[in-house]
Amino acid sequence: MITINHLSMTFHNTTILDDISLTVTKGEVVAIIGSSGAGKSTLLRCINRLERPERGELRIDGQSFDLARLTQRQLVHLRQNTAMVFQQFSLFQRRTVLENVMEGLMVVKKYSREKAKQMALEQLRKVGLIERADYYPKQLSGGQQQRVGIARALAMEPQVLLLDEPTSALDPELVAEVQDVIKRAAVEGNTMILVSHEMDFVRQVATRVLFLEKGKIIENGSTQQVFEHPKHERTKAFLARYYQRYEPEYVI
Ligand SMILES: Nc1ncnc2c1ncn2[C@@H]1O[C@H](COP(=O)(O)OP(=O)(O)OP(=O)(O)O)[C@@H](O)[C@H]1O
Ligand SMILES: [Mg+2]
Repeated sequence: MITINHLSMTFHNTTILDDISLTVTKGEVVAIIGSSGAGKSTLLRCINRLERPERGELRIDGQSFDLARLTQRQLVHLRQNTAMVFQQFSLFQRRTVLENVMEGLMVVKKYSREKAKQMALEQLRKVGLIERADYYPKQLSGGQQQRVGIARALAMEPQVLLLDEPTSALDPELVAEVQDVIKRAAVEGNTMILVSHEMDFVRQVATRVLFLEKGKIIENGSTQQVFEHPKHERTKAFLARYYQRYEPEYVI
């Protein structure tokens, strides 16, 4: 279980995250939706402290972290328990697929090379890329690269997997293979927080949906409730706009 309490972040006097509190229980897939600039990426980036908020407590794995003030040891511990999948894959270009997945296991988890290799191969098998273990990222399609990104994150066995628009940089025909890998990881019980603009995917994979606007969670409910009976006018308007644009025949 992971809990966030009173997370706030400002930048140049602009509030980007406004007193966010949130609990994600084991096995939940929580999707964060909302307009561009709402603060979705910043929220994920604060959780594993790629960004430092002014205020906020994170409880994970029975430990409490003050996100505004972490010791080096706490930062390492936090990163061991969270793993991020980035929109732009962010693989090491000069390392092979296998080395990319092994890196965190050796550097962050301090596993032996042999153990890291076994674990990395196991994850690559799960995402269907074991045959590509010795390739370099450039030699793979975008979809394959993102599957490596997911394998790398899952190999860390994080308490929570953070995914920031994992398919939005992909050509449309490559989206499904990456979504399938994420769905499988969800079915296997991985706890996830997913930022996505793809509402059909969110409906399929999420157990709960948060609607974020101007740095505030204004709606938080089961996937079915949020999509079928959104409580907040802003959520209704957002979903209506989305479905008008992409699926004009859809009626809420
Ligand atoms: N490093 C930064 N420096 C200054 N402003 C930032 C920084 N990161 C984010 N912001 C601002 O914070 C707000 C939230 O940005 P964020 O990237 O979290 O939004 P988002 O919901 O992920 O949007 P999108 O859907 O476009 O990815 C925006 O107004 C953005 O301009
Ligand atoms: Mg974003």
